[in-house]
Amino acid sequence: MDRLYYFRQFLNHFWLRPENALLLALRAESFKKTFNFFDDAEASIDVSCGDGVFSFIANGGQISADSDMFRSLRFGKREGDFDAFDCFDDTYKMNVIKEADRKFKYGIDWKSSLLAKASKLNFYQNTLVHDNNNKLPFEDESFQYVYTNSAYWVAKFEEHIKDLFRITASHGHIVLQIKTNNILQLSSRYYAPFMGEKFHTIIDAGRMSTWKGLRSKEDILNMIISFGNVDILSVEPIYGGLLARIWDIGLRPLFNPLARMANSLSDEERVSIKKEWNEILFDLFEESLQKYKSSENDAIEYLIVLEKK
Ligand SMILES: C[S@@+](CC[C@H](N)C(=O)[O-])C[C@H]1O[C@@H](n2cnc3c(N)ncnc32)[C@H](O)[C@@H]1O
Repeated sequence: MDRLYYFRQFLNHFWLRPENALLLALRAESFKKTFNFFDDAEASIDVSCGDGVFSFIANGGQISADSDMFRSLRFGKREGDFDAFDCFDDTYKMNVIKEADRKFKYGIDWKSSLLAKASKLNFYQNTLVHDNNNKLPFEDESFQYVYTNSAYWVAKFEEHIKDLFRITASHGHIVLQIKTNNILQLSSRYYAPFMGEKFHTIIDAGRMSTWKGLRSKEDILNMIISFGNVDILSVEPIYGGLLARIWDIGLRPLFNPLARMANSLSDEERVSIKKEWNEILFDLFEESLQKYKSSENDAIEYLIVLEKK
């Protein structure tokens, strides 16, 4: 499973937001480097797992061509905390055609609708609704492998990270994929001087306000060191630069009308148009994705692998 394999799989799920497929292919490739720490016989947890599809695909799972994230949506104004995907009804289609290579013992998130979607994957043995601003409902040292790619969403960021360390067993691993405040320089604010404030507001759609725990890489590492009960095994940039700028704009403002259009088609037409759409996108980005090398100079997200002492 290389980044192009992942790109194809993620295009299938994210097709109307193809920019996500691009960056998540790189995130999955980075996540994969930590699977040697994952032991199926030991307890593992995916914290803030959402609909679970990212982790499922990263771990080798596959979904059918008529499955994706654009069914069972809420339609409303894209701003602030509004989340079009915070909805679960019987229009949600998620057919697994290949099981993941490993399964998490727990997948947790604060949105029950997303966990209902995740439960379709047969990937989490248990799901649990939990707000990470509160103490995780697990005993100390409960897990050997703790993963999250969403710690920077949590307002009580320091407490949350400390709590992740608490639930990790001695010699267990904590895998963080974490955006840094470098994203503020790369974000659509950059375009405002020549594209205007309205453009910026539409592109941002309130997402910056949902990332309440954004910190610099240095602050994150200093905080980890100050907790003192983990060894830092690696810190690696995942993505940034032009690909991150493409992601920053993408089809973000258009996916609602695109999804409405797609969902008014017959299943057969939808799959056929999706196939054509995804082939064009794959060809457009194949070379740049293949060649892409992450760099400390412009990274907006890092992989941080920790071992509990
Ligand atoms: C960018 S999504 C990532 C979801 C998933 N990990 C993935 O890779 O697709 C961020 C997730 O964090 C969850 N989240 C945000 N703040 C949270 C909190 N305070 N407690 C629990 N979950 C939270 C959201 O519901 C959402 O599912």
